[in-house]
Amino acid sequence: MEASAKKTEQFSQKLSDILNYGALNTAMGIGYACGAFEALSKFDEPAPCESIAMQGGLDERYLKEWLGVMVTGGIVEVFEEDDDEFYMLPKEYVPLLTRGGGNSNMGVYTQEIPLLTHCAFNEIQSGMRTGDGVGYEQYQPFYAFMEELANAKHEQVLIDTFLPSVQGGAIVERLHQGITVCDIGCADGLVLNLMAQAFPHSKFVGFDIDEKSIRKAEQRAAASGLTNVIFTLQDAGAEVVEAEQFDYIMAFDAIHDQTRPFEALKNIQLMLKSGGVFSMVDIKASSSVMQNKNHPMGAFLYTVSLMHCMPVGLVNDGMGLGMMWGKEQALALCEAAGFSSVEVTDIPEDGFNSHYLCHK
Ligand SMILES: C[S@@+](CC[C@H](N)C(=O)[O-])C[C@H]1O[C@@H](n2cnc3c(N)ncnc32)[C@H](O)[C@@H]1O
Repeated sequence: MEASAKKTEQFSQKLSDILNYGALNTAMGIGYACGAFEALSKFDEPAPCESIAMQGGLDERYLKEWLGVMVTGGIVEVFEEDDDEFYMLPKEYVPLLTRGGGNSNMGVYTQEIPLLTHCAFNEIQSGMRTGDGVGYEQYQPFYAFMEELANAKHEQVLIDTFLPSVQGGAIVERLHQGITVCDIGCADGLVLNLMAQAFPHSKFVGFDIDEKSIRKAEQRAAASGLTNVIFTLQDAGAEVVEAEQFDYIMAFDAIHDQTRPFEALKNIQLMLKSGGVFSMVDIKASSSVMQNKNHPMGAFLYTVSLMHCMPVGLVNDGMGLGMMWGKEQALALCEAAGFSSVEVTDIPEDGFNSHYLCHK
């Protein structure tokens, strides 16, 4: 076959795969959300649709259609006996698709693109022509999902894995002795509340622009009886900040979404005391599409950026860095913001992010 015709045929096959996998992702996200994989996982033997529906409290007719997607998509196995059908989720797939799988659970991410599509399909389509940003208010169902995901991760790794990895454990020693700490984009305050509990001699301040999150963070701190943490409604890129306030500043997944990330980085540099450090945890990627060409999750991550991170960062003529702003751009902005040096390292138990440790 002529090379060009072969290329067309291969691409046509790829398009069929894309349509099937895209559809499969949507159905998997719905099934994950309503506990259909958990229901399937309870059976050691192939089971009829009726029993699986009963097990999961699901409607049998809906489940039958959903199982059709899962079987043709190669997720669930089907068996036939006396004209009856029986379904089975291979036991090897269970930890990858259910909540009990902990760190192995990838099923949770099947909800991400369907949720973003639900929140902002029309706005992104229109933004492709107008260049307009999309406000945070558009994404409420997505935030509830992301908050649950991020909080589960912070609970697992922040105190015992991440912080001991910062400066070879030196920051943990200083936290025990008593320092001042700020979390930029603190959301509902989980990180700071965990730290305030673990390090009672240190003082903690959280900044976020979302009032609902700040109130929730305050309520949680009060419910835990914490007196060494406060939360402030504060734009990290705002013009007036007090210099030399903090020994340690952190930003988990909270710089690239901002409309004025460069101003935020300059403020962070200013707010650090002499000898202070800033931990920026952000996506591990290059700024160049060419360099990201073989990233195993590249299409997924760029889609999340296209549908959320970039448009929220474009509001009010914002910079709109997007999640895939990458190492080269991050280093250039940190340097221009005045940090004297930046070390970029991998993070234990986190293949998606890099740790930028910036020195005042
Ligand atoms: C993706 S969330 C990350 C939340 C949290 N740090 C975590 O690890 O789960 C980004 C947070 O940054 C906040 N944010 C966005 N722009 C901000 C700004 N200019 N100043 C302060 N916070 C901001 C958002 O409201 C949101 O809570």
